[in-house]
Amino acid sequence: MSFGLSRGRTLDTSGFGFDVSDLKPSEDESFDPRSMFTSPDRPFELEVGSGKGTFLVQQASLQPARNFLGIEWSGEFFRYAADRARRHGLDGVRLLRADASEFLRFSCAANVAEVIHLYFTDPWPKKKHHKRRFIQDATMRSMHRVLRPGGLVHLVTDHDELWEWYQNHAARHTDLYDRTTFSPPDSAGDGEVVGTNFERKYQREGRPFHAMTLRRLDAVEDSDAS
Ligand SMILES: C[S@@+](CC[C@H](N)C(=O)[O-])C[C@H]1O[C@@H](n2cnc3c(N)ncnc32)[C@H](O)[C@@H]1O
Repeated sequence: MSFGLSRGRTLDTSGFGFDVSDLKPSEDESFDPRSMFTSPDRPFELEVGSGKGTFLVQQASLQPARNFLGIEWSGEFFRYAADRARRHGLDGVRLLRADASEFLRFSCAANVAEVIHLYFTDPWPKKKHHKRRFIQDATMRSMHRVLRPGGLVHLVTDHDELWEWYQNHAARHTDLYDRTTFSPPDSAGDGEVVGTNFERKYQREGRPFHAMTLRRLDAVEDSDAS
């Protein structure tokens, strides 16, 4: 049965979409996501919460010498984005259906990603739900482990209180990252910060955006200790 985002089309994720339960970890139980690509030696970037895959499709079309993995928890968005990458013939894009927090913390190999992109991740505004936010002390450490030396984390949100949360986490982890100026990626159109679906929706509503980039510092080795 077809419904929702697929609008009656059959979504075909073959070769582009993978479920975390299908991954074959190495002997040390970690998984190198670069192995999902036909050219695994290309520079590798990760997006957490890819939604419909708009950033991935736009950016990979403009950056064909790089590989992009989108990690998306929602099965419906995951299938839509993987089918979309396949229809565009983007061999530099793969989708992984997984909880990105768990994947980065427990499965992903260390030292693999040049960039981690987090665009308009869920704000979970109620205090009792803050623990569901992607950015936590543990994920700050996981991202540091997964990034290559000098790797970048781009964070963009429209949500003022989540922005404060990001700033507080950045301030608490100055041993792991320094803060640097955010530059819009190639995917951004005129007047856009990134050019994702949520950004376009929020732009129509006239909401202001916040953006920061964190650069991985090298001082701490194997920092995902807890
Ligand atoms: C608000 S939407 C933004 C989508 C897209 N980045 C955009 O800007 O249009 C957030 C997306 O992140 C996904 N998501 C939230 N937490 C996640 C997690 N821990 N792992 C993977 N995906 C997650 C949600 O399913 C949703 O598709």
